[in-house]
Amino acid sequence: MERTLILIKPDGVKRRLVGEIIGRMERKGLKLVSAKMLVMTSSMAEKHYEIHKTKPFYRDLVKYITSGPIFAAVLEGNNVIQVVRLMAGTTDGSKAQPGTIRGDFATGIERNIIHASDSTEAYNHEYPIFFSREEMLDFRYGDEDIV
Ligand code: CMP
Repeated sequence: MERTLILIKPDGVKRRLVGEIIGRMERKGLKLVSAKMLVMTSSMAEKHYEIHKTKPFYRDLVKYITSGPIFAAVLEGNNVIQVVRLMAGTTDGSKAQPGTIRGDFATGIERNIIHASDSTEAYNHEYPIFFSREEMLDFRYGDEDIV
């Protein structure tokens, strides 16, 4: 089954949106495989956002994502990478559809509440920055036959 990584960014944590966001993921029927709160170090952020290294906003992005606690989680489900990207909404909160996380809670492009892996390659690059194999939990929910 496909997996994805989400980060609820410092603005999402400070605005107490962790429960709201994880609640949406649970109600959608996604499996929470692992989760933790942490403050990212600069080297974690530089690795995570490596793909944006040459972009003009890279330094600000690293500074922002390391500015406070984040909530990191691995989710599992059918086509979960696309499902979570759709639930997150367009990167720029001012353009995101109402009903999406960014559409409902963000108005900016940097402070846009959530990060979600955009491909399998991105997930494989990102998740080891936050989780060891031992932290990925193997269990079944009681409703897996009907979700
Ligand atoms: P995220 O999904 O975490 O991945 C990269 C982040 O870069 C993105 O969300 C935005 O927060 C940020 N980003 C993308 N484009 C811009 C931009 N033009 N200016 C500032 N930040 C940006």
